Amino acid sequence: MPQHPTARLPWRPGTTPLMLAPMQGVTNRAVRAHFIATVRPDVVFTEFVRVAGASRKRVARSDLREMATTGGEVPLVVQLVGHDRAALVEAAQIAENAGARHLNLNLGCPYGRMTTGLTGGALLQRPDLLAEIVPALRDACHGSFSIKLRAGYDNYTAARELLPLFETAGVDYLILHPRTVVEGYRGAADHRVTAALVAGSRLPVIANGDIRSTADGLHLLKASGAAGLMLGRGALADPLLFQRLRGLAPATATANERLLQLRQTLAALLERYRNLFCGDVQILSKIKGVLGTMEDPIYARQVDELKQTRTLADFSRCLAQRS
Ligand SMILES: Cc1cc2nc3c(=O)[nH]c(=O)nc-3n(C[C@H](O)[C@H](O)[C@H](O)COP(=O)(O)O)c2cc1C
Repeated sequence: MPQHPTARLPWRPGTTPLMLAPMQGVTNRAVRAHFIATVRPDVVFTEFVRVAGASRKRVARSDLREMATTGGEVPLVVQLVGHDRAALVEAAQIAENAGARHLNLNLGCPYGRMTTGLTGGALLQRPDLLAEIVPALRDACHGSFSIKLRAGYDNYTAARELLPLFETAGVDYLILHPRTVVEGYRGAADHRVTAALVAGSRLPVIANGDIRSTADGLHLLKASGAAGLMLGRGALADPLLFQRLRGLAPATATANERLLQLRQTLAALLERYRNLFCGDVQILSKIKGVLGTMEDPIYARQVDELKQTRTLADFSRCLAQRS
């Protein structure tokens, strides 16, 4: 029997959830809606929501709109990033008032201001601050409260060392991307770290990082004992990966099938982006942001061509030529 409460989890107890990862600049409500309509991840996340301590406006209006979207019956987790305890608690309350039922704290983001400002992954260096923030956020959240983290800031031990804090505070589940913050995206995710965290944890651990194929995902579940998987870049490159892992689509696809899928995904997103964003310039720049995560040698040339287009009309023409 699990030793943790399951009632609050955003997935059904006894199932193995496949989650769509939060990706800033990518997993906005249009992208999430596309995934929900086509492959229905079990759980989806917002992009991180910045919580500024000094600002009087805790949460941007655009973020509030993202939090409020429910995506049918697929649970939406709102992810917060920040380091000011009071501000994070206030943001959690604002998020719940906006309709959020599941909240997550980002302890993984490796970039620029996030790390210099002691938020995201940089907070892994400050267990003293986390000892204040984590219990306070837990208390503030009425639904599930989870943490998405790297293995450590510059080592592979911080996540493991923080476990007692997470368990005692009543965190509902963890999502581990087993690289260090300093590594960024270099090298490979070391899922031996995931297996060690699973073995030492009373909390469900969701495995994340470098899951690119059905074989990757199934092997990782078996080797690590993780409670579920979170797919990021692999899901963008091959949205059917969700269905492949469920055994509801062929485990592998031909290059032509993958190319067709790329074209269909981008065409569908373009339609949704026309409703979400304003003006050709913004739509083109946003869709290129998605394109940036669609790394796969199978269609690298086509993606490069699309990236080089200068207008939305050119992009659409180039996309149509790929059929
Ligand atoms: C473009 C991009 C944006 C990301 N934004 C976020 C974010 O907002 N919050 C977060 O926790 N992780 C973010 N990540 C990290 C992913 O959620 C995930 O942990 C990482 O990409 C490893 O998983 P993958 O190999 O399946 O992509 C981002 C990653 C990428 C590539």
